[in-house]
Amino acid sequence: KPLRVCALLGSLRQGSYNRMLLNAATEVAPDSLDIQFFDRLREIPLYDGDLEAEGTPESVLALREAIKAADLLLIVSPEYNRDIPGGLKNALDWVSRDKSVLSGKPTAIMGASTGGFGTTRMQAALRLSCVQTGNLVMTQPEIAVPFVDKKVEDGRLTDADTLKFLTGFMKAAADWATLHQGQQG
Ligand code: FNR
Repeated sequence: KPLRVCALLGSLRQGSYNRMLLNAATEVAPDSLDIQFFDRLREIPLYDGDLEAEGTPESVLALREAIKAADLLLIVSPEYNRDIPGGLKNALDWVSRDKSVLSGKPTAIMGASTGGFGTTRMQAALRLSCVQTGNLVMTQPEIAVPFVDKKVEDGRLTDADTLKFLTGFMKAAADWATLHQGQQG
C-alpha cells in the first residue's frame, strides 16, 4: 500500500523554483510514495476569527482533509525575509484550529532560494511553529537549496548533486512516515 503524501508549496507563482524542487522530489521519490500536491493555497482567505465563527471556509476544510488523509506532510517553500511566506503560514494557522490535524503528523520540510542560505532560516522558523502544532518533523537529513536559479534548466532542477541528495532525503522521508504511521491526533 503506497504512503500518501500531501505536498504544500509556499510559493504561488507559475515559474516557482520550489515547484521545480517539488517536481524533482516527486521524480526521485521511492515508488512507495504517492505525492499529491494541494494546489488550492491561493483560495485560503486570511485567518479571521469572525469568518471562522461563521463557518470554516471550504478551502481550509479541504486542506485539513488532505492532510488528515496523508501519511506525510511535505512542505516545500521559499523564505521571505528570512521567514515563512505569509500565505503558507496563514494556511497552517487555519489548519491548526483543528488540533487533531497537525498533531503527530509526520512532516518533512525543504526549500530552495536564489539566495545563499537556501531557506535555512525559513526552515528554522517553520520547525519552531511545528513545535506548537505538534507535527513530527523529520530532523535529519535536511535539504536547503541555495542559488537555485543556477541549478535549473528549462524549468527543471538538473543539478546532479542536488538530485542525489534529494533522492536520499525522499527515501528518509518515506522511512520517517512509515516509522510514525498511526501516531496522528
Ligand atoms: C525573497 N527572496 C529571498 N531569498 C532568500 O534567500 N532569503 C530571503 O530572505 C528572501 N526574501 C525574499 C522576500 C520576498 C518577499 C521575495 C518575493 C523573495 C528571494 C527568493 O529566494 C526568490 O524570489 C525565489 O525564487 C522564491 O521562490 P520561488 O517563488 O521561485 O519558489
